[in-house]
Amino acid sequence: MVEIIESKKSRLNISSDDFLSLCKSHPKVHIDFGTGDGMFALRRARKIENELVIGLDADRDSLAVGATKAAKKPAKGGASNVRFVCANALDLPEDFTQPVADTFSINFPWGSLLDVTVLADEDFLNGIKKCLKDKAIGDVYVNLFALQDSETLRTNHLPEITAETLESHVKPLWEKAGFKWHEHQFFASGEKVDVASTWASRLTKGSGRATVYWKVEVL
Ligand SMILES: C[S@@+](CC[C@H](N)C(=O)[O-])C[C@H]1O[C@@H](n2cnc3c(N)ncnc32)[C@H](O)[C@@H]1O
Repeated sequence: MVEIIESKKSRLNISSDDFLSLCKSHPKVHIDFGTGDGMFALRRARKIENELVIGLDADRDSLAVGATKAAKKPAKGGASNVRFVCANALDLPEDFTQPVADTFSINFPWGSLLDVTVLADEDFLNGIKKCLKDKAIGDVYVNLFALQDSETLRTNHLPEITAETLESHVKPLWEKAGFKWHEHQFFASGEKVDVASTWASRLTKGSGRATVYWKVEVL
């Protein structure tokens, strides 16, 4: 079953078959892992009308924010091609084992999602790969402010992410897990990052720390 959040009070459990049919009824599918309040997913859905955008997060209350906005009429900012799924990205439901997505994003993760993204945790990447098509393209944005609070990263002795350590640590791990590394870029603190999510503006403007971006492709 896939748990779809429709509003603060309403949720729907749909079967694997219904979830697959929903995905297949759209020419393209995008999954935003750790979508938070889902504003990135909603804005993307408004912009790319023939794509199904799935905003996935472990926090129901955050998802309800985006879901409530999405349920409005299109003239009032709603969109019918977005769904908000409550799930742990580190332990995706069995229904997420079919390759449905053409593209994915991980925008400004924190907590466990941050750890597995930066450490390229094999189980996590194998898990998300199951719902990604071959050659699916992913965009990842990490603000370095979030890293300083991560106990896991400290325990794993992950050094501060710099251009050098991104090349020597993060990139080879993603490649080992079966992703082609296309490119990466650092954005200085305060520099505009073109991601239409809530935390993109909060962190890039307010954290005083740089953001690192990388683009990968499922091999
Ligand atoms: C800083 S917020 C970013 C939200 C959104 N991507 C944005 O840019 O506005 C980090 C999000 O990661 C989610 N998250 C952390 N660990 C997760 C996990 N294991 N599975 C799913 N979501 C997770 C949190 O619930 C939170 O909503």
